[in-house]
Amino acid sequence: MKYNLSEITDIIRNRRSISPEKFSTRKVHREQLEMMLQNASWAPTHGLTQPWRFHVFMEDGRNQLIEFLPALYQSETPVDKFNATKHERLISRLQHVSAIVIVSMKRDETKKIKELEEHEAVACAIQNMSLTATAYGLSCFWSSPGYIYSAAMKDFLKLSTEDLCLAICYIGYPQEEWPKSHRKPLEYFTTWITE
Ligand SMILES: Cc1cc2nc3c(=O)[nH]c(=O)nc-3n(C[C@H](O)[C@H](O)[C@H](O)COP(=O)(O)O)c2cc1C
Repeated sequence: MKYNLSEITDIIRNRRSISPEKFSTRKVHREQLEMMLQNASWAPTHGLTQPWRFHVFMEDGRNQLIEFLPALYQSETPVDKFNATKHERLISRLQHVSAIVIVSMKRDETKKIKELEEHEAVACAIQNMSLTATAYGLSCFWSSPGYIYSAAMKDFLKLSTEDLCLAICYIGYPQEEWPKSHRKPLEYFTTWITE
């Protein structure tokens, strides 16, 4: 065995999405984020287009999100669907979390690679981020509310129309015990063809 399989298996299986409301007040360090993003950039990328883009909001930078995201939720939600509790929760979430990474897909100018595959590469990058977070004892919570796909979100991130924001990742330490999860057994999702 070239690497420690049991350790990587633990990291993969213990990666957890923990709701930001359940994060403690312990701060995430810039060096941890740098490692997460560097590892993210080692995701597979068809044609080596490296379509991932990261906007990291920390410290006072979070104020920009506090100003923008709740207003975006309001402007992108039909009046009859607007939920004041959700709006409030978003504000307090943004105030509570010390590090937020917004992840986008930057469309390669040549368009030599299918757009779907560029999304897939970015999803792999997010997984690398999340696994690295797990190694630090951090959760990287992938949030994808409908408004992240809006034109206004692209403007905010200075993306072009062909790019796409894919995730708001809230990063933090859990307040309580690391949660457990479960998955279906291998037989449920695997077909072996042997002859
Ligand atoms: C593409 C994608 C989008 C997601 N968006 C959300 C979201 O908007 N809100 C949320 O609570 N969880 C979101 N999640 C996280 C899932 O809810 C989570 O992975 C699932 O509950 C399994 O839990 P685990 O990640 O702890 O194994 C998203 C995950 C993926 C892959």
